[in-house]
Amino acid sequence: MKCIVVSNRKGGSAKSTTAVSLASELAKDSSVLLIDLDTQGHATLGVGVDIAEKNGAHSVFLGSNLSETFLHSVSENLTVSPALSFFDVYEYSDLRGVLKNRFKKEKIADFFDYVIIDTAPTFDALLKNALEVADTIVIPFVPHHLGVVAVNQMVRAIYQTSSKREVAEVYMLPVMYNPHINEHQVSVQKVRDAYGDEKVMSPIGVDIKLASQFESALPLVLDSKRSKGQKDYKKFTLDLIKRIS
Ligand SMILES: Nc1ncnc2c1ncn2[C@@H]1O[C@H](COP(=O)(O)OP(=O)(O)OP(=O)(O)O)[C@@H](O)[C@H]1O
Ligand SMILES: [Mg+2]
Repeated sequence: MKCIVVSNRKGGSAKSTTAVSLASELAKDSSVLLIDLDTQGHATLGVGVDIAEKNGAHSVFLGSNLSETFLHSVSENLTVSPALSFFDVYEYSDLRGVLKNRFKKEKIADFFDYVIIDTAPTFDALLKNALEVADTIVIPFVPHHLGVVAVNQMVRAIYQTSSKREVAEVYMLPVMYNPHINEHQVSVQKVRDAYGDEKVMSPIGVDIKLASQFESALPLVLDSKRSKGQKDYKKFTLDLIKRIS
């Protein structure tokens, strides 16, 4: 089992879009669990499931088993642990290692080929729990100056929270990329220069269908009609799997 965490402290950088697309694309051939650790629940909605009011992913921090939260999604091989709305992480003092412990106790690795975790744009105990179980971290970023700053901040946060031996592989994914915009080219190049070409995935272009998929609750990569967003996320998924396996 490989656990891939999609994360960036910057809001609106296509984390949920990437988590939904990656999980749905992988589920075409593999058994996948999507854990929605963002109480906004956008990834949950993206795979055709309602945000939980009582029992969701965040219930593990209240003592539930992770597997008790599992629901079927729109895709056959894709199980979802939906976000629990209104869970307030700041009400609890020590949440370290909770998810890692659940993974171990419930032998999650025996049941899924991939676990994808969507995270909120905050640096809190939930994000730390996700980083603790990550084999791979994908940082989607919008390629402009603050997007690059956010990538650097996120990488520093990852290194600060990991012990040297346990550091996950990190990949950056440019999103909403327009090759005709100079700022986009320059920003992607800065990230390549800083982390190496092999760490920067081929970009996802702008495609409004990636936004409307959340309304239709059908992940774009599963839509029978071909589109740019579908093609880009398929390529990204294949490239990522090659790099991490
Ligand atoms: N490639 C794209 N083309 C067009 N729109 C996109 C693309 N990627 C994401 N979007 C849209 O941009 C917005 C932000 O994306 P998304 O919700 O995935 O970001 P996020 O990082 O999960 O946000 P948050 O920080 O709030 O969790 C959404 O409305 C989404 O539908
Ligand atoms: Mg999101």
